[in-house]
Amino acid sequence: MSISQSTAEHIKSLAMIEEVVGDYVPLKKKGQNMWACCPFHNEKSPSFSVSPAKGIYKCFGCGKAGDSVQFVMDIEGVNYPEAIRHLAKKYGVEIEEEEEISDEQQQRYNERESMLIALNYAKEFFKLNLETEEGKSIGLSYFYERGFSKEIIQKFDLGYALDKWDALLTSAQKQGYEKEILEKCGLIIPKEDRFYDRFRGRVIFPIHNVAGKSIAFGARILKADKNQPKYINSPETEVYHKSDVLYGISQAKQALRAKDNCYLVEGYTDVISLHLSGIENVVASSGTSLTEGQITLIKRFTDNVTVLFDGDQAGIKASLRGIDLLLAGGLNVKAVVFPDGEDPDSYSQKLGSSDFQQYLLAQAKDFMTFKLDLVADDLAKDPIKKAEVIREVVISISKIPDPLKRAVYIKDCSLHLEIEESLLYSELNKLLLKSKADTERSESFTNPPLLDQELIEDIASSTSATQDQIIALQERETVRMLIVYGFQNLDENIKVAEYLLQELEEVDFQTPIYSQMIALYKEALAKGHIPDADYFLKVDDSQIKNEVIHMISTKYELSEHWTGRHGIFISKEEDNLNITIYKAVLKLKHKIVKKLIAQNLNDLKNSTENEVEKYQLISMELKKIDREIALQLGIVISS
Ligand code: GTP
Ligand code: MN
Repeated sequence: MSISQSTAEHIKSLAMIEEVVGDYVPLKKKGQNMWACCPFHNEKSPSFSVSPAKGIYKCFGCGKAGDSVQFVMDIEGVNYPEAIRHLAKKYGVEIEEEEEISDEQQQRYNERESMLIALNYAKEFFKLNLETEEGKSIGLSYFYERGFSKEIIQKFDLGYALDKWDALLTSAQKQGYEKEILEKCGLIIPKEDRFYDRFRGRVIFPIHNVAGKSIAFGARILKADKNQPKYINSPETEVYHKSDVLYGISQAKQALRAKDNCYLVEGYTDVISLHLSGIENVVASSGTSLTEGQITLIKRFTDNVTVLFDGDQAGIKASLRGIDLLLAGGLNVKAVVFPDGEDPDSYSQKLGSSDFQQYLLAQAKDFMTFKLDLVADDLAKDPIKKAEVIREVVISISKIPDPLKRAVYIKDCSLHLEIEESLLYSELNKLLLKSKADTERSESFTNPPLLDQELIEDIASSTSATQDQIIALQERETVRMLIVYGFQNLDENIKVAEYLLQELEEVDFQTPIYSQMIALYKEALAKGHIPDADYFLKVDDSQIKNEVIHMISTKYELSEHWTGRHGIFISKEEDNLNITIYKAVLKLKHKIVKKLIAQNLNDLKNSTENEVEKYQLISMELKKIDREIALQLGIVISS
């Protein structure tokens, strides 16, 4: 069943952002906006703003932003329909369920429900097995030997699979569970014309989803046996997508938010040992390399990750790629290394809980210090390695989506390695632009950085930016002008919207999202109203919403806030709106002409003899336009 579109719309229209946020943090009004200390990261002075007029929130510290529904999703760690239900409850709206899902969808939904019920049965079965003679003497005693307490066994729903071919199958069938469903859950495996249990004679670690439902199992062998794998895990199923799951997430949820940090370990037993040491904000990637899905999951709760590395060099080097992925996800990354041969499980048991907690706090190093320390020995032996090290570190920095954070790291790196910042920047810019094409695809994964005219110029003047990339930035700036200032009057009684659209008549936007937004803008205008940010926030397209939120939460809003508090005056683009707008249009055209000139030059190079003249004429024409625009720009800029 899904929530009907009209109910969702109704709820969204009721859910005032300041009321929704106000349930969680006290808001103070300052200027047009309201402010609070951000509930998503730790801070002492408020940088979390709520705009009742725009219906959005945005934190200038950690970058979290969105509308009422997004806020509930973020703070409660729930998905879209769950957030709508939450708001419905708050506003006392009855939810109208939509019947019009297809039979096939309904069937799939039913199947998933049946699977969850069967998986829950299996979990209970494995737990009860711990109370049997076999379970007690083998399973339970194994857990006790490892120092697991009764409470922790309960907390993690640990269990035991009897050493029989079909213990679970027989019992489940007696309870009316179909073989078909059990097989879909990965609990039983067909062999010839019979089925047998997948997990036999092993201790069981149930894997839970965020909501705490068992969706899979990891089963550990009890005694070392070279002929058998240490763990047998559930296969991928309809309800278990390995790459979107983190072991321990359901038990860590609250602590992740409260501590605003996530410890990331490798194994099931590491998670459990940390809990035993009083550390609950921990999850495990379960031995595989991290995925984007897992990072997104962490980000629902915190932006800070501390990776705990086992103490062997080979393992660490292999896991370094995980750090870059975390950085690319916009997370702040720290790392802790354990002494050789120790892992979080063994070392926490060795030190005991308070020393271990101390160790984590004392040893946690910022990712860059961590990387630099890692290569320090190599570097001392072989200074020629320096170039390689610099590259390594800059690659990591280039993954960070936030330009301000990148700048901080570049400064650090420059100090540590005794190398000019400018050199690091040129290396960084090369990497940034090279990876731009790749990140385009995962735009929703990393938020686009805030850009305004100054930043665009910075990027444009770094020689390696391609013309297409610069044009895209300039297009975005133009769309921002339309959305933010469209309804305002320019001189001569013409509205910004009219002026801009007139000027852009002959310009085809090359970036799909901006051309789409321009089309939507024109559509609305034709219907008689000038669309503002609000209008675009109601469009059912998360990419567009994301763009708009970032466009309207500029640093100028921040400066308004700071101005009020510190009496600092920072000029706003609105103060010179005419110039800002003229400039935006001219710059876009200028950049397009530059591209045309380059294209034409290329055509000229590859042209046949009788085409040469044509291209030369075009070239002259383009250069003339180029000069004219440059001239106008010169006037505008110096005026
Ligand atoms: P202990 O050796 O009991 O401390 O187990 P551990 O959970 O700490 O395992 P380990 O550190 O060896 O491995 C980390 C994680 O990798 C485990 O928790 C499992 O998720 C996964 N893993 C380890 N061995 C296997 C295996 O043989 N097969 C599969 N599929 N996964 C494994
Ligand atoms: Mn281990």
